[in-house]
Amino acid sequence: MDKVIAANWKMNKTASEAQGFMARLKELFDGAVPEGREVIVFAPFTALEATARSAGALGWVQAGAQNLYPAEKGAFTGEISADMIRSAGAGIVLTGHSERRHIMGEDDKTVASKTLFALQHGLKVMLCIGETLEEREQGLLRNVLERQLITAMSFDAGLLSGHSFYVAYEPVWAIGTGRTATPSDIAGAHALCREIMRSIAGDEAFSIPLLYGGSVKASNAGEILLLDNVDGVLVGGASLEAEQFSKIITA
Ligand code: PGA
Repeated sequence: MDKVIAANWKMNKTASEAQGFMARLKELFDGAVPEGREVIVFAPFTALEATARSAGALGWVQAGAQNLYPAEKGAFTGEISADMIRSAGAGIVLTGHSERRHIMGEDDKTVASKTLFALQHGLKVMLCIGETLEEREQGLLRNVLERQLITAMSFDAGLLSGHSFYVAYEPVWAIGTGRTATPSDIAGAHALCREIMRSIAGDEAFSIPLLYGGSVKASNAGEILLLDNVDGVLVGGASLEAEQFSKIITA
């Protein structure tokens, strides 16, 4: 499978900054399509349409949203629906990002309902999971990954078809801290994730792209992408500059 290189811009970039980024990416690749790579940019809502338009023109980048609300429409002030995301031109959404779990207080059930709703409403999903430092130190890595994966993947296996579901393992202690997990931490956690996913989804689990995230940058992406069970990377800080991100794409 192609390696998935995904940018998570978080709360960064206006629509015009997003367009500037995409224009620079186009220049950097000079008409070439990065081989063996699937590239996704998770943009903030206000830049989503601009990102999707530029991505469509480029032809090899998909635009994604960072969140959704699990209802068709209605009295949910400040929230964004799956339909709105699709109408902005995006085809994929993040669920369960650690900042939503730990800053916005989203629990496993909320993450599960967003994941199911998005899949049922024509969006692909990249589910983020990962343990805190405290949980890791208490030996709870397996328990946390099992709880997060089993709760979020409690949907009909049919929804997994058509390359619609991705998982990103992001240890909370490695996000935005500059502290990358070691290759053996990553390989160990990814093997565990794959085993748990297999117990939930059977052999289908081998076709679910499993990404690593947490302080990925141009200097460590190549090594991480070579590890067993690593099908891609989800990049925050180092995805904000087109130059850096382009080096991660080709790492
Ligand atoms: P980071 O963020 O690369 O800045 O650590 C990754 C993420 O939160 O997806």
